[in-house]
Amino acid sequence: MPATQKGLILPQKHGEFVVGNTPNYTPGPGELLIKIRSAALNPLDWKIQKYGIYVEEFPAILGQDIAGEVEEVGEGVTDFKKGDRVFRQGLFSSRTNGFQQYTVGPASSTAKIPANISFDEAATLPVALSAAYVGLYGGPTFGQGLTPPVTQEGQGQYAGQPIAILGGGTSVGQVVIQLAKLSGFSPIIATASLKHDDALKALGATAVFDRNLSSAELSTEIAKVTSGKLLSVVFDTVGSPATQQIAVDIVAPGGAVSDVLPPDASVKIPDNKTVYQVLSLLTLPPNTKLLETLYHDHVTAWLEKGLLKPNRTEVLPNGLAGIPDGLKQLENSQVSRVKLVARPQETA
Ligand SMILES: NC(=O)c1ccc[n+]([C@@H]2O[C@H](COP(=O)([O-])OP(=O)(O)OC[C@H]3O[C@@H](n4cnc5c(N)ncnc54)[C@H](OP(=O)(O)O)[C@@H]3O)[C@@H](O)[C@H]2O)c1
Repeated sequence: MPATQKGLILPQKHGEFVVGNTPNYTPGPGELLIKIRSAALNPLDWKIQKYGIYVEEFPAILGQDIAGEVEEVGEGVTDFKKGDRVFRQGLFSSRTNGFQQYTVGPASSTAKIPANISFDEAATLPVALSAAYVGLYGGPTFGQGLTPPVTQEGQGQYAGQPIAILGGGTSVGQVVIQLAKLSGFSPIIATASLKHDDALKALGATAVFDRNLSSAELSTEIAKVTSGKLLSVVFDTVGSPATQQIAVDIVAPGGAVSDVLPPDASVKIPDNKTVYQVLSLLTLPPNTKLLETLYHDHVTAWLEKGLLKPNRTEVLPNGLAGIPDGLKQLENSQVSRVKLVARPQETA
């Protein structure tokens, strides 16, 4: 293995991304060295660069959505071998992140990619899947603490209970819809641009309402499909001040909202409603076991059986060099129900 590899480097806080040489890695005990075939982009990547948030060690490699092949296994790893196709979430450190040609990470939170899923498709999943999973099943801090659908009883556990997902077409929203279906929720209500109606229903949504409805208009439409049942679980996958307020408005008293971003100061939350701010990072103690079990033990079979489907993909040109333009598209809201994916091995 050469001592260096190509990476998309953020040299300093608020700096400009540059493709350059960055150190290669040796897997430690329990770790895998992964040759990255596909790395997907997330809104957080442009927010870190633009606002100078979260990352304090520079030069830094970003990117948390990773799919590739096992290149080398660390000491004690018995359940993976060189050549296995895998995907995983970066852990918010340069050596575990995805905007480079090789990365390392614990085998315990890595998933195998089944034959029916491509590297590009697998790379669309980790961050969206972790956020959706923690927001529904994590607890007590970052999610609603619902029973995960990892046992026969868990699948279908919430039969007959309604759920609403604001932003059904976001990457996170598409996974929440599918997890809600696995958990048995019914009806599964999503808001989105109506051009996404068919696609979201194919994932499991039973009613799709226009993303521009007000709280009052949406509540009226929801009442028509819930037959008087209380809406106790709402997931806001957009996180704008407007959707955050709508989520709080439409959830029933005693119910809870999972939100992908911290509540804006303008959002009015009554005492009888709870808002959980989702944080999907695997290394946060309340998430670790929950997500390790998901990635290591369940997600491969769900993908194989079609219970979980990846997002649509759009592959960026020029390997790692294509990422900054892709991040601009995300920042300018030019990405609609699709995940932008870079292929680091295609870097010139
Ligand atoms: N806390 C965490 O751990 C965590 C993890 C992942 C993501 N996030 C955050 O969650 C948010 C979503 O991330 P993502 O990757 O899922 O986003 P994304 O897929 O890039 O979102 C793009 C989609 O958002 C839709 N959208 C925008 N405004 C909407 C609205 N008012 N109502 C309904 N849909 C709307 C757009 O719909 P159209 O197609 O109609 O344009 C577009 O399809 C971001 O703010 C991200 O930073 C947080």
